[in-house]
Amino acid sequence: MGFDVDAVRAQFPGLSDVRDGKPLAYLDTAATAQKPRIVIERMAALLGSEYGTVHRGIYRRAAHSTKLYEDARTTVARFLNASRDEVVFTAGCTDAMNLVAHAWGRAHLSAGDRVLVSGLEHHAGLVSWHAAGFRPEPIPVLDDGSLDLDAYDRLLAQGGVKLVGCVHISNALGTVNPIAEMARRAHAAGAIFLVDAAQSAPHLPLDVQALGCDLLAFGGHKVYGPTGIGVLWGRREVLESMPPWRGGGEMIERVSFAGTTYAKPPARFEAGTPPIVETIALATALEWLMSLDRAAALAHEEAVFAYAEERLAAVPGLRRIGTAAHRAGVLSFVLPGAHPADLASVLDMENVAIRAGHHCAQPVMERFGVPATARASLGVYTTRADIDRLHAGLMTCVRLFG
Ligand code: ALA
Repeated sequence: MGFDVDAVRAQFPGLSDVRDGKPLAYLDTAATAQKPRIVIERMAALLGSEYGTVHRGIYRRAAHSTKLYEDARTTVARFLNASRDEVVFTAGCTDAMNLVAHAWGRAHLSAGDRVLVSGLEHHAGLVSWHAAGFRPEPIPVLDDGSLDLDAYDRLLAQGGVKLVGCVHISNALGTVNPIAEMARRAHAAGAIFLVDAAQSAPHLPLDVQALGCDLLAFGGHKVYGPTGIGVLWGRREVLESMPPWRGGGEMIERVSFAGTTYAKPPARFEAGTPPIVETIALATALEWLMSLDRAAALAHEEAVFAYAEERLAAVPGLRRIGTAAHRAGVLSFVLPGAHPADLASVLDMENVAIRAGHHCAQPVMERFGVPATARASLGVYTTRADIDRLHAGLMTCVRLFG
């Protein structure tokens, strides 16, 4: 089928912005992806002539909405190579990570039990545990931004580890972690494995069977879909072992003032009227993504990424943070003499959008001795021309701050 980036870009109205004659170079897809027209139009229709509640009405509009909502679950299952009753809709990736920490953590962790998380976690994979009353131990990070797998083995060998959590792709550095191997080692030590796939879901074909994980979370807005919707996938027996986290409508079997019995997963975790439009439009986004030639799209993204590596290497004084052998999507860097926010501001004058800050990954910044980095992140629609604009803007920064 092949991959035509111009044809893909033409589907994204958000990329067509021109300011002072300068077209937008959107390099902040790791923060949030632009939306293809098919998702935007689907949301408009779902909010308009197709709008209705789910699971609560027997009239035709509600039945139509319910069918679309449950069909969305089937689409997500196909996206992940999973069973549809193992797909829980959440308010986002962060919400899914919090569901695990609160529901699984409280049901399964007692004094002396240990949780390991990678030293590359986004705050969703660390603060969720703190908020639920647990203190995970970090899997150390090597100088290139990859995980220290020998240290991981030693941490596992100390015993008592019940769960290991790891980002698939680091949002701060772009490191791609060896999830299948890490999950295998966790299982051998008697632990289950949780994957934060927020950054990998838009880039890599995800197959939870091949990854061998037990729980996996991702959000809608980074896979070219809406905000306010995410997914927690879990192996049936893991989800069944988790109590509800939030109580409300539609997650129950029977309620009286004496108490409540709860529905089976996934309904057990979907209290209240869900984000109907966002859920169905997430499926539209995933269908759109799956309709691409994924191998060709990935090859395109990898080629643009390699080009970006080359161009950044040609910026005098620029220091890359995160140089692991396997990385994707994200390029973090600092330029001595300039705060990352200064770089982002100068680039914005050129209509080049990057993120500057700690990227909700303060322990990663601490590990590399920087308060913040500048970060360019790529999507399926990113071109070499975008990268050339980044390079030109950075050369201006060198002149201003160097
Ligand atoms: N986690 C998102 C980012 O990395 C918001 O920018």
